[in-house]
Amino acid sequence: MSLDLLAGSTCESSANRRWKELIMKVTNKTILVTGANRGLGKALLEEALRRGAKKVYATTRGPFKHADPRVTALTLDQTDEIQIRQAANEVSDLDLLVNNAGVAHSAELIDVGVIQEHLDVNLLGPFRVTRAFSPLLKRSKGAILNILSLAAIAPVPIFAAYSISKAASHSMTQLFRAYLATHGVAVHAAFLGPVDTDMVRDIPMDKASPASVAAGIFDGLERGEEDIFPDSMAQALAEGWRRGIVKAVESQNAKYMPPETPGKDESFTRTFSVEQSPKEVFEAINDVRSWWTGDIEGSSGKLGDEFTYRYKHLHRSTQKLVEIVPDKKVVWRVSNAHLSFTKTPAEWNDTQVVFEIARKGDATEVRFTHRGLVPTFECFDACSGGWTHYIGSLKKRITTGLAQKE
Ligand SMILES: NC(=O)c1ccc[n+]([C@@H]2O[C@H](COP(=O)([O-])OP(=O)(O)OC[C@H]3O[C@@H](n4cnc5c(N)ncnc54)[C@H](OP(=O)(O)O)[C@@H]3O)[C@@H](O)[C@H]2O)c1
Repeated sequence: MSLDLLAGSTCESSANRRWKELIMKVTNKTILVTGANRGLGKALLEEALRRGAKKVYATTRGPFKHADPRVTALTLDQTDEIQIRQAANEVSDLDLLVNNAGVAHSAELIDVGVIQEHLDVNLLGPFRVTRAFSPLLKRSKGAILNILSLAAIAPVPIFAAYSISKAASHSMTQLFRAYLATHGVAVHAAFLGPVDTDMVRDIPMDKASPASVAAGIFDGLERGEEDIFPDSMAQALAEGWRRGIVKAVESQNAKYMPPETPGKDESFTRTFSVEQSPKEVFEAINDVRSWWTGDIEGSSGKLGDEFTYRYKHLHRSTQKLVEIVPDKKVVWRVSNAHLSFTKTPAEWNDTQVVFEIARKGDATEVRFTHRGLVPTFECFDACSGGWTHYIGSLKKRITTGLAQKE
């Protein structure tokens, strides 16, 4: 590979051109901020509200309340895959994901456990969260903002494990940037100097206020800056960084994308967990009338059964049970579909609706997939919204035993 580093300015201008198309304004947007209960996350939440965000999902590990009706609290520990999926199931639209939550322990470069803990929270945490929410961002052509640190560029010895995790998180940010660019999702990094929060409370040094840093971060985002340097210590590095060798190599390397995986499944899918047993879940799924509102004719209990679902004049489809593994799996094949609100009303024909049930620890996990309902379908958005509603209804049926009432 030849690295045409002298062409840095050429790379920059084409990148800038692409970037201008992706500039995100906070006003009227739906935003999710992780770790929004204190420190910088709290300041980012307030700044997003101040700039006129339509809705802000504030994710926290503990209970959280906010007086502004635009704020919705969600429980999310970013080391907990199930909590992340549950939170993702609560969100139907998203324009901007802010990966803010993180930990930093002052520790020497000795302990593998400390490094693992930092990687779990600061690297794998944003990775898990990004993976869970990127389908929504692809749909909205939204953006991701990863809160990094100047320690990602050059390590700070008293924060050894933290520095490793932030450097790795920077690499992950660059990779998501390359991968998601083709989906119209912009991925930003914010490189922060010291900020006056609990994280560095005991370290004597100059620190910027969380409010000023939050404002600097959103200013950078709204200017369309790929890498944001929001405080005075960070700003001193911005120009050199943008014209430097690392950005030039990033630009070169971004061209080496793996080929698209043929047949990669982008079908609509949702997962949730309940306390009930797999048997109870299995029985609830087959009791279709109790959670799928509309007119249902036919039966849905054993292999080969068929039922036709109708909702007003809008939707008709026939589902045949083509696979059934008691307490583990149910698959329906769809035929006779007519979705009158689309120009291609038979789109659902030959798709499959799959329910997979698995015991995970003390909980039963239910994975719902409408295989074949992919983003290129005309009804993808509307049908995804419909399924999100009915999956909630199924969960309610499982956990309370109550049938859905329209
Ligand atoms: N402060 C600085 O000098 C500085 C400098 C550069 C970059 N940063 C970055 O700025 C971001 C915010 O840090 P901060 O200064 O605001 O720190 P902070 O005051 O210590 O707040 C950390 C936040 O992250 C949350 N969190 C920790 N572990 C979590 C987990 N496993 N799952 C979900 N949330 C978790 C905390 O929740 P709980 O309240 O439940 O613990 C809290 O909301 C971090 O990414 C940090 O690396 C900070």
